[in-house]
Amino acid sequence: MTLRCTFIFLACLAGAALPAGAAGQPVEFKQGVVVSVSQPASEAGLAILKKGGNAVDAAVATAFALAVTHPAAGNIGGGGFMVVHPPSGKPLVFDYRETAPAAAHQLMFRKDESPYRHQMAGVPGTVRGMALAHQRLGKLPWKTLLTPAVRLGEEGFVLDKHHAESLNKVVAAAKDFAELRRVFGRADGTPWRPGDRLVQPDLARTLRLIAEKGPDTFYAGSVADLIVAEMKAGGGLITRDDLASYQAVERQPIHGVYRGYDVYAPPPPSSGGICLVQMLNVLENFDLKKHERFSAPTLHLMAEAMRRAYCDRARFLGDPAFVKTPPHLTTKEYAKKLAGEIDLRKATTSADLAKDLPLAAEGESTTHFSVIDKDGLAVANTYTLEHSYGARVVVKGAGFLLNNEMMDFNKRPGVTDRKGTIGTDPNLIAPGKRMLSSMTPTIVAKDGKVVLITGSPGGRTIINTVLSVVVNVIDYEMPIQEAVDAPRLHHQWFPDELRLERMNDYPATVAGLKDLGHRVLKAANAAKAPKQGDAHSIWINPQTGGYVGAADKRLSGYVAGY
Ligand code: DON
Repeated sequence: MTLRCTFIFLACLAGAALPAGAAGQPVEFKQGVVVSVSQPASEAGLAILKKGGNAVDAAVATAFALAVTHPAAGNIGGGGFMVVHPPSGKPLVFDYRETAPAAAHQLMFRKDESPYRHQMAGVPGTVRGMALAHQRLGKLPWKTLLTPAVRLGEEGFVLDKHHAESLNKVVAAAKDFAELRRVFGRADGTPWRPGDRLVQPDLARTLRLIAEKGPDTFYAGSVADLIVAEMKAGGGLITRDDLASYQAVERQPIHGVYRGYDVYAPPPPSSGGICLVQMLNVLENFDLKKHERFSAPTLHLMAEAMRRAYCDRARFLGDPAFVKTPPHLTTKEYAKKLAGEIDLRKATTSADLAKDLPLAAEGESTTHFSVIDKDGLAVANTYTLEHSYGARVVVKGAGFLLNNEMMDFNKRPGVTDRKGTIGTDPNLIAPGKRMLSSMTPTIVAKDGKVVLITGSPGGRTIINTVLSVVVNVIDYEMPIQEAVDAPRLHHQWFPDELRLERMNDYPATVAGLKDLGHRVLKAANAAKAPKQGDAHSIWINPQTGGYVGAADKRLSGYVAGY
């Protein structure tokens, strides 16, 4: 995935009329909150909470609703991770990451091949993932959870400015994808406008089948038939056996303790939990609050922690069914050693961190949502099609997009370059293997009680976006909306450069970072500066126990609560 794509380039929403509860207007609720990128999807989750469903039920309903209302990333043709923190008992993770089809192999991709092809699709995990979460922890019937999504598909929903523009962009770019244009284009060929209604009858039928017949219809029934037919038509690799053998997996989260707070995030095949905890452990060795949040010394320390964690990510991480994760990565001792190697007066050179690695960039959409219910059961869910609108392949007759998640494997063995291409062994393609992810749905708790639910899209930037939110809340005690709105920083080892949102607002900091030896990327045009992530979060007020949702203004977003 290219670094360019790890940033979400979005039209500025400033000045747009926002509905009550929309981005930028935090409200405190007592009974439950759902925060997602899409108003109808947040409302679908809220309706389930009000019906007596718990946060897992609401998360499943929101995920299916987002598959209708946020087609760039909401999905049934992709995969992701769900972190759950029960009011009592152990937090857990549902891993529904896609897998490589059995016919996939290490050398299947050539340099510079289009990311938008049938061959880029991994075996989708979302439907099995939602079914597993529901079976383990849900309360309401499965069918009830899909009802809002079916209705949104059948009756349509009203496009907001972001979603209208996003559809126009992909339809205009999808010359070679007739089915995408048919399903997501306006019938008369003119562009969508905010306020228009998008109706998706094929998708509604697929969702109704999944609601009525259960997840097996997707993996071994009539939906599977349509996926296999689509693969045959487009030269893709996914077979009936690949679908039938796909399993979602329940895992233990990575657990770290940061300044007395418990942090839970997904383990491999996501790199999110390990890198986040490693970076927090390194930062714990410093008194961050000694300096302003957006001062050069603070950003220097964060960048140095990022650089080291992302180097280890490339060196060590992959699907745990294929590679062993070294246990030292998340220990305090290792973090102390790394912290000791940080020079406070000078940036490290990324190349110096990995002299043993022979040296020779991620897409535009994923989506994160956060949910909490009246009992304090909390869910952080991030799922993706990899790029916006995935492989651009809509399964004919089924109305949904397939992911292009194979892009997340290291596609060229041995080719690790200064531009950010990684070719190390742990994440090379193999049949049945899960590709390494950066998705980091995260729950922070204190004394067993949830204090923060967060996560983000943004490819490799995801982990750093989550790091920023956590540091903002824990170290700098920012109110949640401020913590979400604050500019974000990204360093991913290679390319050896720093990206800082809204850096034009911080000329002294940028000068300070340059003095320390950092290469700071400057946006050519401040108004078009790239934005990092889309972190729809919830903070629990320790004084009142109330829930404060914060939608991220960078894209679109809505807090639904009661
Ligand atoms: O799993 C991953 O890390 C990537 N496929 C996520 C891609 C992504 O976040 C693109 N978003 N903006």
